[in-house]
Amino acid sequence: MISVESGEQFHLKNDSFSYICGVVDRRFLAHLYWGAPVREIDPRGLPRPATASYLTRIPLSMEGAGVSGSGDRGEGYPEAGGDRGGRAPLSADALAAPEAPQPPAVSLDLLPQEYPAWGTGEQREGAFAVVYADGSEASRLEYREFEVIPDAAEPEFLGLLRQEHELGRVETLRIRLADPRGDISVDLYYLIAERAPVLIRWARFINTSEAALTLIDPASASVDLPVGPWEVLTLGGAWSRERHILRTPLAFGGYSVGSRGGATGHQSAPFLALCDPAADEEHGRVYAVLLAYSGSFEARCEVDQFEVPRLSIGLQRYRGHLEAGECFETPVALLVSSRSGFGGMSDDLHRFLREGVIPKRWREAPPKVVINSWEAMYFQVSHDRTLSLARGGRDIGAELLVLDDGWFSRRRDDRSSLGDWWPNEERFPLGLAGLADALREEGMEFGFWMEPEMVSPESDLCREHPEWVLQIPGREPTLARSQLILDLTREEVREYLIDTVSTLLRDSGASYLKWDMNRNMSEAGSLNLSRERQGEVMHRYILGLYEILRRLTEAFPGVLIEGCAGGGGRMDYGLLRYCPRFWASDQTDAIERLEINYGTTLLFPPEVIGSHVSTVPNHQVRRITDAETRVLTSLPFSFGFELDPAQESEEERLRYLEGARRFRELRQRFSSCRFRRLLGPLSPESRGRRLSGEPAGEVAWMLDGGDEVFIFYYRPLTRSNVRPRRLRIPGLTAGAIYQEQETGIRYDGALLGQVGIVVEPGPGDYRSTFVTLIRTGADRP
Ligand code: GLA
Repeated sequence: MISVESGEQFHLKNDSFSYICGVVDRRFLAHLYWGAPVREIDPRGLPRPATASYLTRIPLSMEGAGVSGSGDRGEGYPEAGGDRGGRAPLSADALAAPEAPQPPAVSLDLLPQEYPAWGTGEQREGAFAVVYADGSEASRLEYREFEVIPDAAEPEFLGLLRQEHELGRVETLRIRLADPRGDISVDLYYLIAERAPVLIRWARFINTSEAALTLIDPASASVDLPVGPWEVLTLGGAWSRERHILRTPLAFGGYSVGSRGGATGHQSAPFLALCDPAADEEHGRVYAVLLAYSGSFEARCEVDQFEVPRLSIGLQRYRGHLEAGECFETPVALLVSSRSGFGGMSDDLHRFLREGVIPKRWREAPPKVVINSWEAMYFQVSHDRTLSLARGGRDIGAELLVLDDGWFSRRRDDRSSLGDWWPNEERFPLGLAGLADALREEGMEFGFWMEPEMVSPESDLCREHPEWVLQIPGREPTLARSQLILDLTREEVREYLIDTVSTLLRDSGASYLKWDMNRNMSEAGSLNLSRERQGEVMHRYILGLYEILRRLTEAFPGVLIEGCAGGGGRMDYGLLRYCPRFWASDQTDAIERLEINYGTTLLFPPEVIGSHVSTVPNHQVRRITDAETRVLTSLPFSFGFELDPAQESEEERLRYLEGARRFRELRQRFSSCRFRRLLGPLSPESRGRRLSGEPAGEVAWMLDGGDEVFIFYYRPLTRSNVRPRRLRIPGLTAGAIYQEQETGIRYDGALLGQVGIVVEPGPGDYRSTFVTLIRTGADRP
């Protein structure tokens, strides 16, 4: 998988991709190729960069000869207020006259680089910045050595692959770069697996100088891609409309998305893709980077003067202090390239997550049908009401009740009690344990909601331990949802949380925990850390969170932790190792959810995406949709309910029950099916000219299990006098015969791929159709 040619070219290759970088002039690590697997790259075939006298020039094969490589600091800079009379730091010999004939040289400004350093010839954005002890901020990274590690070397806290992954053999390439002045070295890591269509990258910084330095916003990966034209695609939005598809042409300058609030956030997923302008679900090149991380991040693409795009992803608002000899390791980035559009990209990511990241036990036991108390009762929860909700839930097919917010201490609304995690005695006289027992007697499993990272100023915990809160002395703390954030960089806070959550889980015997987080960070300072380390608080917090979740999942392997952050405000691969299911959005309207689920499936397989049937009129948008469409919107995902069955009509309850039964019957198969988006913002049909006879906003997807294919079609708005929708079903076996279960109609797989089936959901708005195709034995010998 990793081959090294004459010590100068590193080729990472498996059946899905080749990724090649090489050493130029024995000094600079250049990016050479990323894409479909290739045998080799002859660097002579690469485009020769333009030259112009204004560009920076580093003479070729002058290793150690120029001022840049000498490591000699001379007298250094004067102390503050000092002045040495403008003494030029560079010798005149190093400055070639522009009109003089130019010896062969490298310009870092033109070189496609693997991990660019700013300020010594590179004027594009670097992959990191360092402020050195002398106050300077320019770095240069030159190649030193490499090592092939026959295994998965991964950062201690941010390791992504589960131990028993199914991705085949794994190898890691480590390439060491170092600053010739001797201040830092950077190890670049590349992890490749035999059967993983995804390359994992990260970087490790080592302060090799004698003094402390400050490391700013290190990227986990950076890559210079071929010239476009490109479009950039990101997933973003806001609370209750997360992960909408945002796509725009990429022009000179740059494009960046990210978060600065200590969580990945509702506004953008830690992901950015470049694609051919014509790319759709089935066609075109896509290059994507993702960050397996849950805190502040930036994903960006800078397009330089020659239209070369530089794609990178990494930390944002990180200012790390590194003492002499100290190291820092970035989170891991995932790089995926597809030649078959966004469908190909999602396929690769879903497969990688399923086979490499999501804990095996949850793959083998997909999520239960949940009934959650939030939209049914909000804060008006009590033992009796919860019990009757559970009974109602059981009668419509739910298997597990999740008691949401409002069960603890004096919590009556969102203004108090976070941190005081004991059941309210009046409303839950038998405690969570008593409630859980009562539920189990009714045949229901029990789960509960917590927001462990938070604290209300009006709580005993906050009064007892004001120092446990993230804060900056002298600054008024800014509240959001009336709450503050606990300082997870503190060991005693982590221990307290592990203890509190463990006790509640143990006492109640719960099998499910909804782990919520409802605000971003402000005044992100820690009384626990020194002045120099305040810029590390947000990152250390996330490491603290991972430690808590790691220990809890180890101690309670049978408890499913559902990730939630005001819905989908922290839905990322960093948490996926601990949370095999996410509450993808507080938006439960079926039509709004189509768009959210569509975008979410770009990165996540459907079984990870919590999607519940709620009542009508919907609580977020007041829309009224029929029960059929609400059920079919949730069915392919992690199914459940967010309503009080007692308030629903008999007819609706029957439809819900049928939906839950179907989900229970199919969920195991669903989670090994290939998920494919058929119709929606990225489908070939939508990229082309819209015909006047087409209803707007149609969405369709399928779960392809080979012998069984499940198709879901949704039509938000109807249209007058239109032909019926014929839905193309690509990817089935030509010559094989598939029979539609509902009607008995038989189709050849080739015909399905060319023209498809008619999906007619009947008149009216907000309609949907579900079709099952079963492959018959007709084509087999
Ligand atoms: C957040 C969650 C909801 C619910 C409430 C409870 O908004 O996303 O699902 O749990 O908190 O306060």
